[in-house]
Amino acid sequence: MTTNAVISGAGINFWFGEDDLRKQILFEVSLQINPGEVVLLTGPSGSGKTTLLTLIAGLRRMQEGELTVLGHPLHHATPADLLALRRRIGFIFQAHNLLPFLTAIQNVQVMFDLQPEISKREAQDRSKQILCQVGLQDRLTYPVSRLSGGQRQRVAVARALVGDPLLVLADEPTSALDGTTGREVVNQLQALARERGRPILMVTHDPRILDVADRVLTMQDGRLSEVPRNGRTL
Ligand SMILES: Nc1ncnc2c1ncn2[C@@H]1O[C@H](COP(=O)(O)OP(=O)(O)O)[C@@H](O)[C@H]1O
Ligand SMILES: [Mg+2]
Repeated sequence: MTTNAVISGAGINFWFGEDDLRKQILFEVSLQINPGEVVLLTGPSGSGKTTLLTLIAGLRRMQEGELTVLGHPLHHATPADLLALRRRIGFIFQAHNLLPFLTAIQNVQVMFDLQPEISKREAQDRSKQILCQVGLQDRLTYPVSRLSGGQRQRVAVARALVGDPLLVLADEPTSALDGTTGREVVNQLQALARERGRPILMVTHDPRILDVADRVLTMQDGRLSEVPRNGRTL
């Protein structure tokens, strides 16, 4: 493993449940993501993709194996380490977790709530700027409950990127969208991340967005492998 990798993991095993119900979900997973790479993670439902993503994001504790993310070794991380790591990661969830009665700009601005060093004015300016970049300049003050699915997902993208994260993790960000809208969201995500030189690890089932990837990984029954460059399977 090289030391400048953004994510580097080896021999990761993970179980859910206790005693008789204990079930192994991840088996000897190894991976490396380098600066600036866009990597897709595919594989059937239930194969362990979200579990791996939440381990990388510091949202779950490691059980066995080694995982270093943005220089933080997670196999013996303290809660304070995990919190520090989560602040540097932009996470777009499958269910995008927006607050429906807040406006688009308020949903993005919440990212600064726990950062007293950023003034309200700056938080507002940065939120507005990123929403404009994803094409929502006319929707800043709309409650997200009044936005379309594609617009909501773009708010989620803006929220994940507004803190200038060092790594973007996205879990099926286009699953609720039609093809064209999904494509737009992915293009925007890719452009914003590329402009800032940030790596993206994105779970997707969507064969139409394979071309944005530098590499494609696939998960099968908790085992991760790399799809060869000219491979066509999803
Ligand atoms: N909190 C949990 N408790 C117990 N089992 C879980 C939990 N979350 C996921 N699982 C199980 O772990 C396996 C992998 O789930 P997941 O990582 O969500 O897969 P994917 O994202 O590839 O669909 C599935 O069998 C799922 O039922
Ligand atoms: Mg999942």
